[in-house]
Amino acid sequence: MRIKEQPGTAIGATVEGFDHADASDADIDALKNTVYTKKIAVLKGQDLSPEEFLALGELLGRPETYYEPMYHHPEVTEIFVSSNVPRNGQQIGVPKTGKFWHADYQFMPSPFGITLIYPQVIPEKNRGTYFIDMGRAYERLPGDLKKEIAGTYCRHSVRKYFKIRPQDVYRPISEIVEEVERKTPAVVQPTTFTHPMTGETILYISEGFTVGIEDETGAPLDEELLKRLFEATGQLDETFEHDAIHLQTFEQGDLLIWDNRSLIHRARHTSTPEPAVSFRVTVHDERRLHDGIDDGTGDGPGERTGDGSPAA
Ligand SMILES: [Fe+2]
Repeated sequence: MRIKEQPGTAIGATVEGFDHADASDADIDALKNTVYTKKIAVLKGQDLSPEEFLALGELLGRPETYYEPMYHHPEVTEIFVSSNVPRNGQQIGVPKTGKFWHADYQFMPSPFGITLIYPQVIPEKNRGTYFIDMGRAYERLPGDLKKEIAGTYCRHSVRKYFKIRPQDVYRPISEIVEEVERKTPAVVQPTTFTHPMTGETILYISEGFTVGIEDETGAPLDEELLKRLFEATGQLDETFEHDAIHLQTFEQGDLLIWDNRSLIHRARHTSTPEPAVSFRVTVHDERRLHDGIDDGTGDGPGERTGDGSPAA
């Protein structure tokens, strides 16, 4: 196994010669370390069945199966499918996923640390995914903004981007909204946390999922503050030319593994509709998203419940 930094960019490394079937513990540790420190590892030359892709993911952690079944791979449910290409005349997975800045599962109480994407059908023109490293983005924030957000919390929800499912047709929209709020109530996380693997401070917000900011008592703060944070971190730049934005491209046989604690990402806009299919596996490594996260006992440091009140 050979790990090489990607030339000309702070983010990313390529990994050649990784074979999940005979990887040693040292290889897996080195790979994970690359994911945490370089943020994206691109495994080259992978040729895997869905079952093998899942097996590779399991080397890195415990898979999390997506909560909405319409995204599942028909044979391997742990695989989330993004696809606009019908299989035998049937839609599998969901088309046009993730076209907004987000961290995966940011709206859930305990998001996983690692995302793996294995592109299957790669568009010719608009290939690639945009990323922003929210550890670096925090570092670069003006001092006064850092001070303003110290000790604050953010609220994350799927409500803006929840996708209507086939069974929702003919349902009243109010009923669907009510179901989304009941099944996936907004979660509260500290605005910044310490990355448990690297010690970096991560600014944990995204334009897609972060819906509010509040002080330590749960009192809402001016929405303008969130907007200034999105602006400063490059998330409002629709040209994608902001310094903080990294475009990660890939080719057939590449398998991307990234740090879902520090990176937010966004699917690339396509000006012309092109066939695109990718498989995703997501895994919890040996630590929670951050050490203060609600583990169900309510006794973590600084834990807050989803209704905005400090945890009992
Ligand atoms: Fe995503």
